[in-house]
Amino acid sequence: MTNQLELNDYKQEIADLYSRRSQTYDNSDWHSQIAHRLIDYAQIGPGQHILDIATGTGIVVIEAAQIVGSEGRVVGVDISSGMLDQARRKIAGLGLSNVELQLADAEALNFPANSFDRILCSSALIWMADIPAALRLWHGFLKPGGIIGFHAFAETAFVGGVVAQKVVEKYGITLAFSKPTGTVEKCHDLLQQAGFEAIEIKPEQYGSYISLEQAKAMWTGSSHPAPGQFPHPLSQLSSEQLAQAKVEFEAELEVLKTEQGIWNDVTIFFTFGRKPADSLGFF
Ligand SMILES: C[S@@+](CC[C@H](N)C(=O)[O-])C[C@H]1O[C@@H](n2cnc3c(N)ncnc32)[C@H](O)[C@@H]1O
Repeated sequence: MTNQLELNDYKQEIADLYSRRSQTYDNSDWHSQIAHRLIDYAQIGPGQHILDIATGTGIVVIEAAQIVGSEGRVVGVDISSGMLDQARRKIAGLGLSNVELQLADAEALNFPANSFDRILCSSALIWMADIPAALRLWHGFLKPGGIIGFHAFAETAFVGGVVAQKVVEKYGITLAFSKPTGTVEKCHDLLQQAGFEAIEIKPEQYGSYISLEQAKAMWTGSSHPAPGQFPHPLSQLSSEQLAQAKVEFEAELEVLKTEQGIWNDVTIFFTFGRKPADSLGFF
């Protein structure tokens, strides 16, 4: 399937990245673990209408479709045709008939107001170019009393990213990574400002010790899109500066090494908010 979406360069890079990864994305059970927690917390029930933002290989839509049953309906949207192809294959294999997949930009959706009971976004909010605007848009699609749920990484998560941020600051470069959603307060404020109430944030820690080599492999330079930033801030550096920054990055990691390896924090904020029951029409 070809990508027929008109995407800007930032989103096209993300779509290409995930289409390249799509064949092996499900090899690890990491994303499905997080998605499963999100669904568990979201209290999905039979007959509900669910929107899954950035559905990828369909992990959330499949689990949600099995819960909502034949009276319910699940819509999954994504900008990566490769990821959606995987989702389609899995959905067909399971014979699920209550799922619809759309190749679409989650920041430019056009669903009727008040049409979903739940909107979920697993492992993807960070990629939105304008997170506050995206949350306001999705708020409009929820029925009054409906619930949004997303997961976000703490700003302490992923040692490679934390160390890279510190190193490149010396070069006058700011890498945002998880910063927009990186604390409980930030997640809370994002939902509150988008019009949600009854906001609940459940932090969970999934960290582990990793080897120095694994930590060093977390350096992606400017070859990987930077969440929420385009062009990639590291593209301002010369190749010599970039090579030097990588040397400094590896030296910083050496310092963090212990007998057990390097601690790689992966703290996740499972974040939920409700659209007020007396909310009328579009937010
Ligand atoms: C880490 S994957 C998460 C996929 C899935 N939600 C999961 O839990 O496994 C991130 C997904 O976000 C999608 N994505 C990024 N930006 C998007 C956007 N603006 N609209 C729709 N999908 C987007 C990517 O194509 C990719 O499939």
